[in-house]
Amino acid sequence: MIKKMGLEKDIDSILLDQDTIMERVKELALRLAEDYKGKNPIFVCVLKGSINFFSDLTREFKDYCEFDFLSVSSYGSGMKNSGRVDITKDLDMSITGRHVIIVEDIMDSGNTLNQLTALLRERKPESLKLITLLDKPERRECPITPDYYGFVIPDKFVVGYGLDYAGTYRNLPYIGVLKREVYE
Ligand code: IMP
Ligand code: MG
Repeated sequence: MIKKMGLEKDIDSILLDQDTIMERVKELALRLAEDYKGKNPIFVCVLKGSINFFSDLTREFKDYCEFDFLSVSSYGSGMKNSGRVDITKDLDMSITGRHVIIVEDIMDSGNTLNQLTALLRERKPESLKLITLLDKPERRECPITPDYYGFVIPDKFVVGYGLDYAGTYRNLPYIGVLKREVYE
C-alpha cells in the first residue's frame, strides 16, 4: 500500500538537484558528440523512466542523430525485479548496421539491460552502447557495466526526474529518496 502525504512531503531528502543533474547531462552529451562524430547514432529511450534524461541528453547532443523508443516490462509496479524481461513496445526502426545508444534511467541488478542488450544484439547493430543516468553497482547481479553513466548512487530507492514508485513521482524535477513510510 502506498501512503501519500503530498508530492514533496513524501521525499526524505534530495539526492541530486536540477542544476547538478543538468551539469552532468551536458558533460555526457559533449562526450557522446565526440565519440559519435559522423556516426548519426540512434538514441533509444527505454520508456518510461528515461524520458527526462533522454530529452535533456539529446537536446545537448549537438550533431545529427535519430530517436527511437521501446518499453520493457520488468518491475511491474513494485520494487523487485521479476526476472524475465519482455519488450512490450518495440522499436519502430531497424537498427541493423547502425550505431545505437540505449538510454536508461537507472541500473540496479542489471537484469533488464543484460537481457535487453542481448535481444538487440541479435539485430546486428554496427555498435551498441549503454548510457545510464544512475548506477547502483552494489546491487549488480549480472556481469554488465554501463559505457557511460551520470552518477553512482547508494543502495536507496529514488524517485523523480522520470523515476517512479508505483507510477508516481516521475514529474519531480530532482532525484530524491522516498520516505520509507510511503511504501512500508
Ligand atoms: P534492474 O533490471 O534491476 O537493473 O532494474 C532496472 C529498472 O528498475 C530501472 O529501469 C527502473 O525502472 C527500476 N529501478 C531500479 N532501482 C530503482 C529506484 O531506485 N527507483 C526507481 N526505479 C528503480
Ligand atoms: Mg527503467
